Amino acid sequence: VHQLADPTVGLEDLLVSPLHLAPEPSQPLPVALFGAQRANSMGVDLSVTSQRQPLLDALPTTPVPVVTETDPAALPAAFERCATAARVWREVPVGERAQALRRSADALEAELPRFCALLVQEAFKTWGDAVAEVREAVDFLRYYAVEAERVMAPIELPGPTGESNTLLLTARGVWVCISPWNFPLAIFAGQVAAALATGNGVLAKPAEQTPAVAQAMVDLLHRHGVPSDVLQLHHGAGETVGAALVAQPGVAGVVFTGSTQVAKIIQRALAAKDGPIVPLIAETGGINAMLVDSTALPEQVADAVVQSAFRSAGQRCSALRLLCVHEVIADGVIEMIRGAARELVVGDPAQLATDVGPVIDREAFDNIERHVARLAREAHDLLPPQALPAEPAHLVPPRMFEVKAVADMTQEIFGPVLHVLRWRGEPEAVIDQINALGYGLTLGIQTRIDSRAQALATRAHVGNVYVNRNIIGAVVGVQPFGGEGLSGTGPKAGGPHYLLRFCAEQTVTVNT
Ligand code: NAD
Ligand code: ALA
Repeated sequence: VHQLADPTVGLEDLLVSPLHLAPEPSQPLPVALFGAQRANSMGVDLSVTSQRQPLLDALPTTPVPVVTETDPAALPAAFERCATAARVWREVPVGERAQALRRSADALEAELPRFCALLVQEAFKTWGDAVAEVREAVDFLRYYAVEAERVMAPIELPGPTGESNTLLLTARGVWVCISPWNFPLAIFAGQVAAALATGNGVLAKPAEQTPAVAQAMVDLLHRHGVPSDVLQLHHGAGETVGAALVAQPGVAGVVFTGSTQVAKIIQRALAAKDGPIVPLIAETGGINAMLVDSTALPEQVADAVVQSAFRSAGQRCSALRLLCVHEVIADGVIEMIRGAARELVVGDPAQLATDVGPVIDREAFDNIERHVARLAREAHDLLPPQALPAEPAHLVPPRMFEVKAVADMTQEIFGPVLHVLRWRGEPEAVIDQINALGYGLTLGIQTRIDSRAQALATRAHVGNVYVNRNIIGAVVGVQPFGGEGLSGTGPKAGGPHYLLRFCAEQTVTVNT
């Protein structure tokens, strides 16, 4: 936290991965990293850093990889190649597989400017978000390397004299990994690394909006020891290539991150298949709330809200959608949020000063615009739009509207639009209404009553609770991430249980 107050802290401090600093998983991770994580957000002064120039130079000189769409008719043969290669890969000692991931992590760290440039070009990430994303991808690679070595070690179990009992974890086979555009590097790399570390083959399909980042990552993994048939990348639309991958007979598991709607389509497709029951890991959307009581610190709330609702143009599954603020402090808090939001620079993500870049495409832009137009007719407008530059396309200014009930929140709007609800009475009742929405990804609680924070966290059906801070930017190995209900199946990405789902378990009993 002291780093936040230190004006000399710059980008180079943020490039060090937490897991790099703590290679032994049993060691506690340094607490100051929370500060680094927070500093690496809107407002970080990139101009004081020694990395500024390499990053900016990388933008015009980084070629965007050319990708080729897969013909779904070619997938059965691709699957067979992957299955054959995976039978060899699962016999490679886990330590060697882990080393391939570690080499890839080192290379990714070394190539940070190139990958940041790709993220700015293809996904319209701001520089701060791009650096954070590369760092998260590095963390996933290192964390799953360490975790695979831990969870795949045979466990000797107690038994009667004359008998040995051993629990073994083994690879399941070929996994289909399907990822979204909003974390086209970190989520993609995390899914793939988990499957590979545990000895599985991978058929990966990135989002059609962000194929080049995924291509660069796969090329890097291939260069650092992952065989090309074991890890294959298949580009194309979700409805065609994605659906055809899921439909391949013999798929051992599917790991999906994206919308709840598509997760359900995949779940139905798997259930309808003949053959074995296929596990699905689905990490999906959320209607995330922050509950603020009358004891909360307004400045802290305003900072947390602006970060959570507007950073990354609101295009995070973890982003804040509904602020539930006690009526006694509501006016002051809203005024502070308005003041801070007006300071945000909305514009070209390639510019260092930009806080909020464009949303991903025309479809996303239209969807947000429709929602905002409806709110402008029906709800109290708390943050009229600021004037925007003509370029680039698809800029959406931060907006804030007052709603009347938690139940008004019927869908996840993936943009910088905050809904505000004033409440009075018991905070437990508000949590119950949030639970009733059916999602369960992130929740913020702002209070100075510790016992209340604990009680509300326990009552809430959500995967990640953040007390007295922002609700975005979960750190791998520190804040295992993922939701429940409509927000996902678990296990949590970046947590100690994640790899178990990628493995089959076998107990071997020997009469000695
Ligand atoms: P999406 O569901 O539209 O697409 C995700 C992926 O699924 C893409 O690769 C797409 O091509 C593929 N797909 C689409 N239809 C398919 C089908 N029928 N069969 C197989 N694959 C198919 O989501 P998106 O717009 O790319 O991402 C935004 C969504 O992702 C938001 O809802 C967000 O909340 C969610 N998300 C969740 C998390 C999390 O960890 N919980 C993280 C990031 C994003
Ligand atoms: N893991 C990302 C976050 O926590 C989505 O913001």
